[in-house]
This record gives sequence, C-alpha cells and structure tokens, in this order.
Amino acid sequence: MHNAAFTALGLDARYEARDVAPADLERVVNSLRGEAILGANVTVPYKLAVMPFVDELTPAATAMGAVNTIITKGAKLTGHNTDAAGFTRALQEAGVTLKNKRVVMLGAGGAARAVAYALLQAGSSLYIYNRSPEKAVALAKDFAAYGTINILTVELAAGELAAAVRDCDVLVNTTSVGMEHGGLDPNTSPLPQGVLPARGFVSDIIYRPAKTKLLREAEAAGLRVQNGLPMLVYQGAESFECWTRQAPDTDVMLAAARALL
Ligand code: ATR
Repeated sequence: MHNAAFTALGLDARYEARDVAPADLERVVNSLRGEAILGANVTVPYKLAVMPFVDELTPAATAMGAVNTIITKGAKLTGHNTDAAGFTRALQEAGVTLKNKRVVMLGAGGAARAVAYALLQAGSSLYIYNRSPEKAVALAKDFAAYGTINILTVELAAGELAAAVRDCDVLVNTTSVGMEHGGLDPNTSPLPQGVLPARGFVSDIIYRPAKTKLLREAEAAGLRVQNGLPMLVYQGAESFECWTRQAPDTDVMLAAARALL
C-alpha cells in the first residue's frame, strides 16, 4: 500500500520488507541513518525492542510504550507510534465519536495498548476484559493518567462482562481470537455465546478474515461494524506522512491492501 501511494504521488521512493534476526536488530536500525532513507515501520515482535536503538521518542510512542514507526532525519532516528492515530481515524471515518462514550475493549496485549491510548485520549470511559486479568490490571495502571479505566474481572466475568457489553456504545476487539492466521481457528469469537451490545458500534481490529465471527454476529444483530483494514491503512498513512510530509491517497492504499489480502 505504501508503494501504491508513492506511485500515485510520483515520489521516487520504495517500501520493502526486511526479515530481521534478533541479533541483527541494532545494526539494522542503525542502517536506517542517512539521507537515502525516509524511515521504517516496525512490527511484531520488535515494537518494544527497537526503543533503545532510536535517538528520541515522540510522546505517543512513550505513552504507548511501543514504536511502530521510525522517522529518519539525516543521522537522527525518532521512534513514533501511529497505531492509535490510525484507530481513531478509522472510527472517525465510520462516524463514531468517542467523547464520553462507554467503550468495552477486549484484550490487553500490544495492540490493546494503542487502542486504549486512542480511546482515553478521545475521552471515552474504558472497560477492559482480558483472559489474563493481570495484563488488564497492568494496562490500567500504565494508562491511569489518561482517563477512567474499569476492569471487568474474571471471577464476575459472565455477569459483569455481559452487562458491560450490553450497555456499551462501542465494543472493540483487540485480541487475536477469530483471526485467520498461523493455525488459529477463525470460527471463534472473543465474546461468550449470546453476549452482544444492545446498540452501537462493533470494531474488530482483525482484518483477516474480512468479517470475523464477532462481526458477523454483530451485523446479524443489527449493529454497525468495522474490521481492522481501515486502522491498518490509516496507521500506514500517518507513517507515510511522517516520512514524506505529504498526505497519501488512502483510497489507493486501501485498494492495494485489499488486493493483497
Ligand atoms: P498483539 O500485539 O496482537 O495485541 P499480544 O500482545 O500477544 O498480541 O496480545 C494478544 C491478546 O489476545 C491478549 O489480550 C490475549 O489474552 P491474554 O493476555 O490472556 O494472553 C488475547 N488472546 C489470545 N488468544 C486468546 C484466546 N484464545 N482467548 C482469549 N484471549 C486470547
């Protein structure tokens, strides 16, 4: 999608994927310095590991505790994170406002940290449910300064989770449950059978399959839904703008991403 956006803007630049062994990470990050490179994206499992190797972090990267974008300016490398901005822009595009909304977020992993930051910055009150409660507690502690976070505890999960989900304005799945990837079963939902919001919006940050079981069930119940493709494209578009100072054509990026998926 980045190469399609470079072409559409007539920019003489190229985006390419690198497989990096753990022992090579510092050397590869250092190789990004210099005039020939605009920057890089960083993905699983290196979003935390690259942090010591850049020269400075943006407030977003510091808050999320992860770097998904490196911006090169001459010899200097800045670690940034566009995941939260990508998520917020995806919801905006769907016409969803987040200020003073009750949002249930499923999951407390790496992706959840970006989504939690986005939701709290936008003024939502956040309810987190995670299979491993200690990770939800840790996330709530790290983000306490940004807003109100409630944890749906595992002991009370059946009743508490169902009630919070029923009454929420927005439900977001950040877990990998329902993903079609590496032998995972796509025919599973992160919610117990029969538990769905009574109204409102359901976002699943998974983009493969295009409609997870959660989204299919939510749609069948008359709810509005969005998959993870807009977030993927918009976090990429934010990175692109950091590197080039030009806004890419996100329709071109979306079409390119869709064609590959
Ligand atoms: P990512 O960076 O994609 O967020 P991650 O940090 O490994 O990946 O987080 C995966 C999330 O999916 C976690 O919230 C995880 O729950 P745990 O903290 O309990 O591991 C959740 N998850 C993965 N498989 C799950 C399953 N089978 N049931 C419920 N939650 C699951």
